[in-house]
Amino acid sequence: MSRRNLLLVKGTLTEDHSQTVATINHYCSNTSACNFRNPMKFIPERWMGDARYADDKRDVLQPFSVGPRNCPGKQFALYNIKLTLAHLLWRFDLKLGGGTENWAVGQRIYNGWIQPGLPVLMEKRPDSTVEER
Ligand code: HEM
Repeated sequence: MSRRNLLLVKGTLTEDHSQTVATINHYCSNTSACNFRNPMKFIPERWMGDARYADDKRDVLQPFSVGPRNCPGKQFALYNIKLTLAHLLWRFDLKLGGGTENWAVGQRIYNGWIQPGLPVLMEKRPDSTVEER
C-alpha cells in the first residue's frame, strides 16, 4: 500500500510531493484585514492586551520566519534591538521628521527591501541622567 502525503493549500487538500515549497508573503499577511484590525495603522496597543485588538491573529507576524530554516539569530537580534531601543529612549525623545506620512507607500522590494531614509528628530531628554561621553 503506498503512503499518500496530503497538503492543505487554501483550504484544499492536494497531493504533497516532496519537492513542494510553501511560501507566504510577509507584507500581504501582515497587512491583511483578515488577520489584523486596522492593519495599516501603527497601534502598539494591539500587542499589549488592548481588548479592541483581541481578535488580531498575532501569530501571523513572523519576521524571522518559521520552520527548520528560520533565523538562528532571532534571540540575539531581539536582545540587541531591545537593548538599543532602551538606551535610545532613556536618553532621547523621538519624533518623525516632516514629509514622512507616506514613507512606506511605493517602496520597492526585490530580494531585499529598498527603503529611503526616514528622518527622525532626536531631542535629549531633560531628565536623562546619562552622562555625555
Ligand atoms: C531583525 C533582525 C533579523 C531578522 C528580521 C532576520 C530574519 C531572517 C529570516 C526571515 C531568515 C530566513 C529564514 C528562512 O529562510 O526561512 C533569516 C535567516 C538567517 N539569519 Fe536572520 N534575521 C535577523 C537577524 C539575524 C542575526 C543578528 C543573525 C546572526 C547573528 C542572523 C543569522 C541568520 C542566518 C545564519 C540565517 C540563515 C539560516 C538558514 O538558512 O538556515 N539573522 N533571518
